[in-house]
Amino acid sequence: MRVRNKTIVITGAASGIGRGLALEAATRGAVLALADLDRDGLDKTLQQIEATQPQHVAHTRHSLDVSSLENWRTFVREVTSSHAHVDGIINNAGITFSGTVEDTDYDRFDAVMAVNFMGMVYGTKEFLPLLKQRPEAFIANVSSVYGLYPMKKQAAYCASKYAIRGFTGVLEQELKSTSITVSSIHPGHIATKVVRNAVEAGNISGEPLSKAHQDYILDAFEATGLPASEAAKTILDGIAEKRSKILVGKDARHADWMTRFFTKRFIDRANKKVL
Ligand SMILES: NC(=O)c1ccc[n+]([C@@H]2O[C@H](COP(=O)([O-])OP(=O)(O)OC[C@H]3O[C@@H](n4cnc5c(N)ncnc54)[C@H](O)[C@@H]3O)[C@@H](O)[C@H]2O)c1
Repeated sequence: MRVRNKTIVITGAASGIGRGLALEAATRGAVLALADLDRDGLDKTLQQIEATQPQHVAHTRHSLDVSSLENWRTFVREVTSSHAHVDGIINNAGITFSGTVEDTDYDRFDAVMAVNFMGMVYGTKEFLPLLKQRPEAFIANVSSVYGLYPMKKQAAYCASKYAIRGFTGVLEQELKSTSITVSSIHPGHIATKVVRNAVEAGNISGEPLSKAHQDYILDAFEATGLPASEAAKTILDGIAEKRSKILVGKDARHADWMTRFFTKRFIDRANKKVL
């Protein structure tokens, strides 16, 4: 589904891929309801849209913690009072956590599942009745390449991203005879602040790294990887083409192919690169 003149909800729109999606969707003529925990970041996203889109479009921004059902219900009320209808939702907000299974406390598993998985479940279910009213609509859920293959020290994150893929696959089957298309999105390495945000939130366990080593890793993550603006184009093109699986970046396409045909060899090699 093309987003021109459509009202689209994007979560996690204050940063990274979500901001990239907001800018690209606005350029393509969408009307946006942007949500995030980070109000200042959302303001920056809207300022960037306004700088490139001087004509007045009634985009809205909303404070939302995707892990709270109560927040989602308030958000739906805000969106329906500002927008006549909703044509699509991109459940993009997410956090990461780094730690071995042994080192990761139960409450960390809960926290990652609450944001990444339940946030996506709430978004899907709370907007479904509105989407069903439209002649054409979409639900797009951001998983990861780590929803395609396992990576050590990423048990909580991988589990949440595999769960998103499973849920989205079921949803696709259940909505087959409706006007709603469903996509599972699998980005590879995208140059965002996701790892820095995890470090700043203390979402890391195990042996602490030296400050210099940590800075090196964060700078390298943000200096390489596909720009979020490019990721956003691939995602919106995939939604326009009604793809059920959207692979973002060369590394994601490579991983998808390799995990189908050389599963064990690919997974062992990918894991060897991690310290
Ligand atoms: N960057 C990558 O390499 C990569 C790869 C694969 C998948 N992803 C996924 O892409 C999505 C976006 O990540 P990103 O890389 O742009 O990261 P990011 O940290 O730059 O952006 C994530 C956004 O989500 C928001 N957020 C976090 N918790 C929230 C909550 N409880 N409620 C509402 N908003 C919340 C943050 O405030 C932030 O604006 C995530 O789901 C992530 O897992 C990223």
